[in-house]
Amino acid sequence: MDISTDVLVIGSGAAGLTLALKLAPHCRVALISKGKLAAGATKWAQGGIAAVLAADDTVESHIADTLDAGAGLCDEETVRFVVERSKAAIDRLIASGVPFSREEEFEEGFGYHLTREGGHSHRRVIHVADATGKALQKTLEQQAREAPNIEIFEHHMAVDLMTRRHLANGADQDGCFGAYVLDMAAGKVRRFQAKATVLATGGASRVYLYSSNPDTATGDGIALAWRAGCRVANLEFNQFHPTCLYHPKTKTFLITEAMRGEGAILRLPDGEAFMKRFDARAELAPRDIVARAIDHEMKRLGLDCVYLDITHRDADFIVGHFPNIYRRLMKVGIDITTDRIPVVPAAHYTCGGVVTDLAGRTDLAGLYAIGEVTHTGLHGANRMASNSLLECLVFGDAAADDVLAKRNSLADPPEARPWDESRVTDSDEEVVVSHNWAELRRFMWDYVGIVRTNKRLERARHRVDLLMAEVQDYYGHFRVTGDLLELRNLLTVADLIVRSAMSRHESRGLHYTLDYPEPAADAKDTVLGAG
Ligand code: FUM
Repeated sequence: MDISTDVLVIGSGAAGLTLALKLAPHCRVALISKGKLAAGATKWAQGGIAAVLAADDTVESHIADTLDAGAGLCDEETVRFVVERSKAAIDRLIASGVPFSREEEFEEGFGYHLTREGGHSHRRVIHVADATGKALQKTLEQQAREAPNIEIFEHHMAVDLMTRRHLANGADQDGCFGAYVLDMAAGKVRRFQAKATVLATGGASRVYLYSSNPDTATGDGIALAWRAGCRVANLEFNQFHPTCLYHPKTKTFLITEAMRGEGAILRLPDGEAFMKRFDARAELAPRDIVARAIDHEMKRLGLDCVYLDITHRDADFIVGHFPNIYRRLMKVGIDITTDRIPVVPAAHYTCGGVVTDLAGRTDLAGLYAIGEVTHTGLHGANRMASNSLLECLVFGDAAADDVLAKRNSLADPPEARPWDESRVTDSDEEVVVSHNWAELRRFMWDYVGIVRTNKRLERARHRVDLLMAEVQDYYGHFRVTGDLLELRNLLTVADLIVRSAMSRHESRGLHYTLDYPEPAADAKDTVLGAG
């Protein structure tokens, strides 16, 4: 069955839900998620949301810290736009019942507790203990499920956006008119036609072998927008979180930066606290610096991991601030009140993405993008910790405002052709998908990771080309599945990452290459597409 709606929202994390909830009183919204609603990265966010809330903090200070972390590539207008709206975004969440940790719990005496993370010169990260994303997702999701105008489609994945080339009866019109969507339970592709379409699909960190992200972070929105003709920018800036748990029984478990904010120290196996050798801010230097320092020490000494140590703090304090990490690590035999935590860096955040303006509008009429899928100019060459959920909230709200302002003039979309399966069959060898997926993630980690060189990027480029040709051929012959679509999207994004990285002849922020170890005199975005 095909769907016709006012607004199609692809993705169900903080950005998509914020927008859907603001639109719902005024128009019909179809919200699709390729898993359960909570399958995206929002639920996994531990640290919190950066906002100007403390009496001694200022908008100017938050802006200055963000610009500093962004290493010359933030767009100051965007940074100001987001930071100025940070308090209002938090006020809305408080009003809607997000149970932020209160100061009294920690006996420091005022309002909500604010923690610190790397790059922030003030305490400004509001949080729900060490599971902020989970609480946020739960609150927004509950409201979305109760909103009569929001129709939710779980286990539905966008195949491609509907654009001019998909229109029926030779219609000739530019824009985005919805998406072809795979109903994963039925194995059928349906038309979701919409007056406006919003990409809120998150990032692409699963393009790397080791990642702090859920399996769903496969760059779908970036690939969809790119195939539809939108520009993308700064995709070479892939953020590696310095501290993911290193343990054979637990993959992809983050140890929040807030732990370093509360005094945790990075140590080598012999106990040396090594971060001061790399930056005067030590553990609270921006993430690119901390991740590179760990990578350097691991390579220099041939280590499997380094250690995060918070054992010098009071046990009640540790358990009070980090209850989820405490419980989770206890299950694998690590007591964080007495033991050091083995950690390694892992791919965490995609700083670049689909180019948008301050209303979330992309290059294609009728198509918006919000959250990690975008390049808004907020993050520059390195995202400052906890600015990402803030970006989701602010741009979810701004894009909803833009849709609402236009809603009386939004036309019904022209009819798109039905999905054609007449020339495909069921796959004969699904191993092609699983093999290529594993190969892609391995060489992206080895050749396009924390430290790059021209030679490594060239090697990656050859492999991306080969896999893209194979997967394109496979896509042309066999029925689509969720795994195939994700692999196709990841390959598209890998290609864009490698091309972006090859074109940046300097080291800046998260892009570090031994061939050009210094930053260039002038900072420029890497923009691909649109001529
Ligand atoms: O370390 C963390 O809790 C992550 C925060 C972030 O990525 O913003």
